[in-house]
Amino acid sequence: MSPHPPGPLVLCGSAHPDQGVALARGCEGASLVQRTLEAYPDGERRVRLLDDVRGRDVFVVQTLAVPVGDHLLEALLLADACRRAGAARVSALVPYLAYARQDRRQAPGEPLGARVVAESLSRAFDRVVAVDLHSPAIESGFSVPVEHVDAMELLAAQVGSAAGDVVVAPDLGAAKRAERFARALGLPVALAHKSRLTGTDVETSGLVGDVRGRRPILVDDIISTAGTVAAVARELLDRGCRPEITVCATHGLFVGPAAERLQGLPISRVVVTDSLPQNAKGLPVPLEVVRLGPLLGGRVERIHRELTLR
Ligand code: R5P
Repeated sequence: MSPHPPGPLVLCGSAHPDQGVALARGCEGASLVQRTLEAYPDGERRVRLLDDVRGRDVFVVQTLAVPVGDHLLEALLLADACRRAGAARVSALVPYLAYARQDRRQAPGEPLGARVVAESLSRAFDRVVAVDLHSPAIESGFSVPVEHVDAMELLAAQVGSAAGDVVVAPDLGAAKRAERFARALGLPVALAHKSRLTGTDVETSGLVGDVRGRRPILVDDIISTAGTVAAVARELLDRGCRPEITVCATHGLFVGPAAERLQGLPISRVVVTDSLPQNAKGLPVPLEVVRLGPLLGGRVERIHRELTLR
């Protein structure tokens, strides 16, 4: 047997290929799998591996960016292609797991969207790696091991302790995440009470903690339509915070009315990761993007080493 087992293979889907390339750079011994990815005129996706993956440890990198369904299906096709080509192990690296917010039924007649996605990934892959899952409970929907990558320390390092005086969680679900972020910066935490009215509208009804005269750092997992950011920012201003708000989230979707909602608010910085492709054009606030490549590359390296040594 060779004293140096071959390194992991990184196979990028079309959702955010630059991320897979950066990840491969951050992972010792990793190499990229050449492949073709096409969309047929009828909308079907077609993939083909151009490199040999037989007997190898393959990581399919596909974040669930818009169009979510197409990117999910493409990841499943890539997994199937790897299996049929004899890969030893196929892991999914899904920096942003879409549908994660559908982790419970809000009303009779609704599906468990997070579980549907978890089950389809579990059927296709041996393991799933995701960044800052919306809720840790989602893991129970998977029948394969889930590796959870926490980006809070990375984001906290980018924001820095000089940026604010209090870390604000927009709702109870965000409290633990905000606590980890605050601990990294040595700051206190305040907790807003947010309720969701519809997919795009939220309202706040109170806040626990002192924000008067302080510069808040609002920490969440996702910025989607920015309804949460806008509502909590108004609540903070009503409670006398200094008009210098930093907003920080792992996953920046910025869809629908997001740009419009951020307009006119005293937001000095928005900091997100590159779990999704980012393009600041159109956003009325300065956007900073923290690269996940080294963190994810390190995690892939560790998983590969642990599995290879078994
Ligand atoms: C919800 O529980 C999430 O943690 C985020 O607060 C939410 O998804 C943000 O969505 P939006 O930007 O549309 O308010």
